[in-house]
Amino acid sequence: MMSMSTDVKSLIQEGAELTDRALEALIPSVETVPASIHGAMRHSTFAGGKRLRPVLAMQAAVTIAGAPPKGIEKLGAALEMLHTYSLIHDDLPALDNDDLRRGKPTCHVAFGEAIAILAGDALQTRAFEVLAGLELPPAATVQIIGLVANAVGTVEGMIGGQVLDLESEHLKPTPELVEAIHRAKTGALIRVSVVAGGVYAGATPDDVARLDTFGRKAGLAFQIVDDVLDMTVDSAHLGKTAGKDQATQKATWPAVFGIEQSQRDAASLIDEAFAALAPYGGRADGLKSVARYLVERKN
Ligand code: IPE
Ligand code: IPE
Ligand code: MG
Ligand code: MG
Ligand code: MG
Repeated sequence: MMSMSTDVKSLIQEGAELTDRALEALIPSVETVPASIHGAMRHSTFAGGKRLRPVLAMQAAVTIAGAPPKGIEKLGAALEMLHTYSLIHDDLPALDNDDLRRGKPTCHVAFGEAIAILAGDALQTRAFEVLAGLELPPAATVQIIGLVANAVGTVEGMIGGQVLDLESEHLKPTPELVEAIHRAKTGALIRVSVVAGGVYAGATPDDVARLDTFGRKAGLAFQIVDDVLDMTVDSAHLGKTAGKDQATQKATWPAVFGIEQSQRDAASLIDEAFAALAPYGGRADGLKSVARYLVERKN
């Protein structure tokens, strides 16, 4: 019998391959003019990300519909473009000033700052163009676009979280502050990946509420683990510079609660998240195994 970790590994690998094929088709080729920006978008997109947001969307859809709905990989590709955009900008000298991402030189190191800024912008606009073309009834498409735009935005969304993160450097973080940062800068996109996957599969308002609860808890757990990994894993395994958070005095979960409490908090958030999926029985097994992976991962 295959172990659970083999199952979740192949589930993630299959989801990642589907996503990569969609991204390959949806991002303009390096020959397309202007070539430099398409090279930059592809450099960061195909640098070896885990594709966890697309996989979460697919497994949320399976939880609702019992099988992956046709075309769901395009939703996953759009989510991954938005995530990659957020990473390109997160690494810029004006933000976290990182030179290593996904095991490769960051976008601005490889292509210069101007093209990196524009590549992030371009991934964001292309993502919404892809969402607008989803193979869904128009009402569902509009619902997904609204939810995703909100999750990337300034009010409890990714951009707002990045602002809080930057403005909290060198401050002594409180539990409330670090929770607000994490829910927004990372949690919002994870949460909307789960919810949008459900909506893609025809979720009712009750389903949306359950997926939202699940996604909120899993999203917070994800960023807690990101903070722990920054302190406990080396750069070669992380594919990004380790130890950055302490060096720049970021407001992290371990800075407030310590590493061990952070690990316990992440694990109990996942257990709490599972409770929201109880009505789906075995149909949620894939989604649960990916969520478990979010906190057990080593990079
Ligand atoms: C890293 O996200 C950045 C955060 C939002 C914390 P991931 O750990 O999902 O990064 P990739 O996509 O696998 O590179
Ligand atoms: C980044 O958080 C979150 C976003 C990219 C929105 P971090 O700054 O902790 O991410 P890493 O550690 O650089 O991947
Ligand atoms: Mg950051
Ligand atoms: Mg960073
Ligand atoms: Mg981090």
